[in-house]
Amino acid sequence: MRNLEVGMSRRGFIGGTLTAAVGSLSGHLVEARAPASGGQSPMPALSLDSLKPTGALDEAYWWKVRSQFNIMDGFTFMNNGTLGPMPRVVFEANERCMREIMEDPSNGSRAEDVDKVREKVAGFVGATSDEIALTRSTTEGMNIFAHGLDWKAGDEVIFCTHEHGGGIGPYTTLNKRLGVNIVHVEIPSPPRSIDQIVGIYEKAITPRTKVIMVSHITYVTGLVTPVKELGELAHRKGLLISVDGAHPVGMLDLDLKTMGVDHYAAAGQKWLLCGTGTGVCYVKRDVQDRIWPLMGPPGDPKRGARKYEAFGQRDVPDVLGMTAALDLQLAVGKKQIEARDRELSTRFRNGLKNIPGVKVWTSNDPSLSAALTLFTVRDIPMANVQKAIMNRDRIFVRTMGTGNLNGCRAATHLYNMPEEVDRLLDSIKYVSENASRYTSTVG
Ligand SMILES: Cc1ncc(COP(=O)(O)O)c(C=O)c1O
Repeated sequence: MRNLEVGMSRRGFIGGTLTAAVGSLSGHLVEARAPASGGQSPMPALSLDSLKPTGALDEAYWWKVRSQFNIMDGFTFMNNGTLGPMPRVVFEANERCMREIMEDPSNGSRAEDVDKVREKVAGFVGATSDEIALTRSTTEGMNIFAHGLDWKAGDEVIFCTHEHGGGIGPYTTLNKRLGVNIVHVEIPSPPRSIDQIVGIYEKAITPRTKVIMVSHITYVTGLVTPVKELGELAHRKGLLISVDGAHPVGMLDLDLKTMGVDHYAAAGQKWLLCGTGTGVCYVKRDVQDRIWPLMGPPGDPKRGARKYEAFGQRDVPDVLGMTAALDLQLAVGKKQIEARDRELSTRFRNGLKNIPGVKVWTSNDPSLSAALTLFTVRDIPMANVQKAIMNRDRIFVRTMGTGNLNGCRAATHLYNMPEEVDRLLDSIKYVSENASRYTSTVG
């Protein structure tokens, strides 16, 4: 199905009226507002109440959700793993707050409101509010933990070869500055099982190991790592576990209490669909006395994880806008979002299996994968595959090259539609069938 625009553009938007049919799929017509296209003022957001599912979560429902995003007509965005588009309700909340502060800057810090966001975030991830620092990115959260711990030369940290620079960065500095040793482990893509992964980390532990650092979902292949089991391993051996959670919050229905990790750093701007410059850093209450603040004074222990926020003035509108993002997630439902994200990625991976010349690096086992998928097409350079898909079908996927892997990564979130997945599959099939055109140049 090449012409997705029929279903997705404002061609279904009747005569400029506010309420229009934006989704037309298998006979479903959705009462929702039309999506805006580049540079135009967006329509106002629907109320969150109207986004609460009242019956089956069919495609008509998901069209309604989709209509709440300002993604350009005829453009398919499948790189939520880098930056998620803000839904209108978040965009409007941020804008409203910015306007209020500019009209009356006398209470620009809105500390009490920020604390309400903290409380809401805590409830959302299954923590207490004194365990949550509202940061500016995942990277900041990873640095808070790594640089906050006391290290001695020869201490060791274990992490795998697919960790993101945001998580690795502080350890590279600790290695150069204090002589902390980095022990790399290699996880196969895809791995066989959870036990295999846990066994690989266990083998790397020595008497000098202090920390296991691991992405809950790796940015390379989208592997879901068994953080609960790795946390149990770490604690059995007297170690701490620090988790780079840039991707799962907003994608998976997770609960930090049951995961039992010591530290978890997440992004606001990815799967949570908040403004850029937002992040969440969980530090378990009973390890906070071992983690010094990265900035500012040591902090009053009674203030809990707030002591990690001494970074000066902050982007208050984006932080307060997190409430709208969380409310949207709760209106749709955390379980429902995870199920939808997985439904779309499973459809994608199953489709890839039928395209000759395509290799999929992401497991199809739901315990080892979720909404990110890495694939390569024959020996075509990844940048050429990305460009060919964009040129032919206006679908954006991310290139991903690290170590021996070189491919494209597709992300599926709640605003993506099955037709977009199918169109991406069709596009990849075309590229694979016409590989000679793309091996060195992109036509
Ligand atoms: C696994 C992982 N960790 C960390 C980051 C950095 O995120 P942030 O920009 O929120 O610091 C990313 C960004 O893509 C990522 O994929």
